[in-house]
Amino acid sequence: MAGSDLNEANPAAGLADTSDSWAPGPSGPAVAEAPDRLQRLAREHLWMHFTRMGSYDADHAVPVIVRGEGCYVYDENGKRYLDGLSALYCVNAGHGRAELGEAAAAQAAKLGFYTNWSYAHPPAIELAARIAGLTPGNLNRVFFTSGGSEAVESAWKLAKAYHRARGDMNRYKLISRNLAYHGVSMGALSATGLPPLREPFEPLTPGGVHVPNTNSYRWSEQRDELWAADAIEEAIEFEGTDTVAAVILEPVQNGGGCFTPQEGYFQRVREICDRHGVLLISDEVICSWGRIGHWFGCERYGYQPDMITTAKGISSAYVPLGALIAGDHIAEPFLQGKSSFVHGFTFGGHPVACAVGLANIDLMEREDLPGNVRANEGLFREMLDGLRDLPIVGDVRGAGYFHAIELVKDKETKETFDDEESEYLLRGFLSGELYKRGLICRTDDRGDPIVQLSPPLIAGRAEFEEIVGILRPVLTEASERMESWSSLSRA
Ligand SMILES: Cc1ncc(COP(=O)(O)O)c(C=O)c1O
Repeated sequence: MAGSDLNEANPAAGLADTSDSWAPGPSGPAVAEAPDRLQRLAREHLWMHFTRMGSYDADHAVPVIVRGEGCYVYDENGKRYLDGLSALYCVNAGHGRAELGEAAAAQAAKLGFYTNWSYAHPPAIELAARIAGLTPGNLNRVFFTSGGSEAVESAWKLAKAYHRARGDMNRYKLISRNLAYHGVSMGALSATGLPPLREPFEPLTPGGVHVPNTNSYRWSEQRDELWAADAIEEAIEFEGTDTVAAVILEPVQNGGGCFTPQEGYFQRVREICDRHGVLLISDEVICSWGRIGHWFGCERYGYQPDMITTAKGISSAYVPLGALIAGDHIAEPFLQGKSSFVHGFTFGGHPVACAVGLANIDLMEREDLPGNVRANEGLFREMLDGLRDLPIVGDVRGAGYFHAIELVKDKETKETFDDEESEYLLRGFLSGELYKRGLICRTDDRGDPIVQLSPPLIAGRAEFEEIVGILRPVLTEASERMESWSSLSRA
């Protein structure tokens, strides 16, 4: 099919691309309705992350979110949106929680900042102890960061430093999974398994090794369920056991669309790591703080990591905060004599951030938000599964309040959309249309095309009904559009 024919036939003709992922654009508010000043200043000065900024122009407004309350946010025109993504898997407690702001203000008034380099302060001490009380097993030592990439970066460095401290000098490699997102700083990016994010910045930190993920949607029934776990052992042996420092895995993998582990996957991985002296890092930047129904995602699947990396929901994202949580055995070599982990960030353990982290745990405990997720995730899943009758819905997967719907061209064969189709489907239609109808969620094709949902943990039946009430007509129209595109291109 010639490109020009396709363009003419393309039902999206005239719509501009706006973003590399889910952000709405073409159907966002018309600039005429938007306060001119903010739009102009945003276009002239704000460098938006992972965004095709050239797509915003006089006809396509930057979506400006000004206020939030509960599961909802409001744009600068006062229009309300259901935040089906918790901002970016972050705002676990929901929007507009004044007590989190009050905790920040009280701490800033008392001690606005002091560092954790050789000094300590009460909020960091209290939060570290509180986290240690919630983690499974011996994960008792907390190294604070400002976000997820810093936590991953720190975990990899600590894994290397730990092996060296024990005289194992050559272990530097980090094994992670294809399509997994572990952040974008150079070390974390080396763990990230998404070629389009990596290639522009190569060469990356040496030692990133990638193995298959647990997406079983297209696996043959004959395939051994634990083959992806066993692939980790093959990679360790292939790389040379004495060169591998750690394996980093998310409990439920975000990149590619909420891949859950097979029964026994993490137990097998734990055995493999133990057999080869390799550390297991559970990257829970998304999957902790109730997102999948437990304080920490590893609890859901019953495995004990050597380290956990976390961020986002730790403060419900009211302030930037992340952490690397290490087992006692990992910390032990650094607690003696003159040894130290020669690594740190000025803002790691910022007192204002830690005060908000403490207030966030108080709130989550008081309202039992992990319990709310466990109580309602079945309903959420059932309602999303209810969309499976649509021809475009190939798979629904995930855990807790973290689910993805995979969109397919052919349900029977599970054929996916090609790049051009996916581009139109996601950025030419879905993201804008969903936003126009008042739902923020993520449309993504870093793997196969998906719509991803991750609402605040206070959500329940009413919000799920609203989500599905918007998704159904929009996915129905998406199906029809893709069908007519296919027939036109076949003609
Ligand atoms: C599993 C995982 N690790 C690391 C990161 C990086 O976190 P940040 O964006 O805070 O640097 C993310 C971000 O989404 C993530 O999902």
